[in-house]
Amino acid sequence: CGIVGYLGKKETKEILLDGLRELEYRGYDSAGIAVLENGHFSNFKAVGKLINLEEKTKNFKTDGFAIGIGHTRWATHGKPTELNAHPHLGESSYVVHNGIIENYATLKKELQNSGITFLSQTDTEVIVHQFEKNLKLCKDSFEAFAKTIKELHGAYAILLVTKSNPETIFFAKHGSPMLVGINDEDEKYFASSDTPLIGHCKSVSYFEDGDYGYVTSDEITIFNALDIKKEAKFSALSQNKLLAQKDGFRFFMEKEIYEQSVVISDTLMGRLREDEVVFDELDSTLFDGINEIKLCACGTSYHSAMSASYLFERYSKIKTSLEIASEFRYREPIMTKDTLFVAISQSGETADTLETLKMAKAAGLKTLVICNVDNSSMVRVADAAILTRAGIEKGVASTKAFATQVVVFWMLSLYVAKLKGSLTKMEIAAHISTLREVPSHVKVDDEMHERIKRVSKRYLHGHGFFFIGRDIFYPLALEGALKLKEISYLHAEGYPAGEMKHGPIALADPELFTIALLPKHLHYEKSKSNVEELSARDSTICAISQIPFDKADDFIEITTCESYMLEFFEMMVVVQLLSLEISIRLGNDVDMPRNLAKSVTVE
Ligand code: G6P
Repeated sequence: CGIVGYLGKKETKEILLDGLRELEYRGYDSAGIAVLENGHFSNFKAVGKLINLEEKTKNFKTDGFAIGIGHTRWATHGKPTELNAHPHLGESSYVVHNGIIENYATLKKELQNSGITFLSQTDTEVIVHQFEKNLKLCKDSFEAFAKTIKELHGAYAILLVTKSNPETIFFAKHGSPMLVGINDEDEKYFASSDTPLIGHCKSVSYFEDGDYGYVTSDEITIFNALDIKKEAKFSALSQNKLLAQKDGFRFFMEKEIYEQSVVISDTLMGRLREDEVVFDELDSTLFDGINEIKLCACGTSYHSAMSASYLFERYSKIKTSLEIASEFRYREPIMTKDTLFVAISQSGETADTLETLKMAKAAGLKTLVICNVDNSSMVRVADAAILTRAGIEKGVASTKAFATQVVVFWMLSLYVAKLKGSLTKMEIAAHISTLREVPSHVKVDDEMHERIKRVSKRYLHGHGFFFIGRDIFYPLALEGALKLKEISYLHAEGYPAGEMKHGPIALADPELFTIALLPKHLHYEKSKSNVEELSARDSTICAISQIPFDKADDFIEITTCESYMLEFFEMMVVVQLLSLEISIRLGNDVDMPRNLAKSVTVE
């Protein structure tokens, strides 16, 4: 989630909406603002992307001094509905919150027992009611706010505005990020990150955990966790938005590779029980009468679909077929109603994929879309949708979207396995505990990144790359080769390791680079002999494995792990970083490679 706040004389709505636009990548299932002007509150909320909120607030504007707070939400407690969207209202106060209030259930029960009615299912709503309860007990609003903060456990960044102090914004931070910004005028800005403040503020102060306080036009009062008053430490705000958006990384792609751990956690959130996977968004009858799954996509999404085909057949024991959207459209395919048609798309807008989805629907098939963008065309067309919560992906070469797609497919294969009884409860429970380990395995290790940087200098030329792997490592090999092609402009192919001997091995010489995926826990010996065949013919080999491989010219070691799926995710990070570093060395524009577009809406 992301939050913003403003106190001053400028048009408050525009400032809040501009800020939310910058934070939309943190979540966009709903958004809202509350503005207090001349003792009167105006509040707007909308489900879906920010554009819906913009539409609702079209005729609203402030005229003179006002205070306002805004929020863009990524659902944790409670579904993405308008009632669950922030800001949350008490009798005469509004609150926005980013984080999780762990003791909300206890507080909620106490408040309900004292007669308070709750409108939403969120943990956030307790904050505003607790504050108003304390307001009746305390001498002023700030004392009530401070008391409330002490009663909350968990992680939060909070902004609160109340009619009893119409010229003040109250704030508190613990665990979730927040900063305040100032300029030469009598105004104050708040946000979850510095990008919304660029262009508005000259300097900013980042709150520390435990900080709380309030601001007015001419005052910023901060207390620390020990209730000791402190001075805000301001530093100059960079005016380069692009640099700030990249959070210190050289390219968005690099930032997005590093974000994978967090977005995978988000994608898992609320969907794992001890021995089952739950998708609140799916109707339990979706798989009734289904004997086949047909997966259809383009580009990187096609590779995640191919990974899924291995998981569905292995774990769900359901026949699975795979289609490239632009092929499927025109090859007069036979579609039967016992097939669930699954479209996979980061954007939800790719023209070829969208058309196949419409074709499947027209043929009477049940349809499901795995997508990263809520309310996109595909989400609107399909019968059901599962969202990958990767956040906005800016790099044209997809990384975190792919990672979250594979995670969703892994979960879905277990979901179907439970329905079909193809795995036991214990087997599903074992998978779930491995799934929970994925976020820590995709965390980029500095030493490994350094190693890849060093290795990359040997792979800047040559007459071609072969990425090879077996089983589910074959689609990963395809994805590794696609990443390299997209941003380095070097020729690369993904190939099934066992198929090299049927032709491509004729190309082997020292100028042919082989990137070998050698998982310990899946067909290790077989893949190893395929690599040995290439090494015997003098191909230059870069092996990626947890087992040292002496026939390799370069070896990139992944962390020890006990499951091939964890090895999959470890190797995914390696191939992404390898492409990134090669491209950087070649001086290419990593985020906007020539001839490519993030979303292709033409056929
Ligand atoms: C474009 C992008 C690729 C992407 C493909 C499918 O070609 O450059 O990175 O994989 O479209 O996009 P989608 O949004 O449908 O996943």
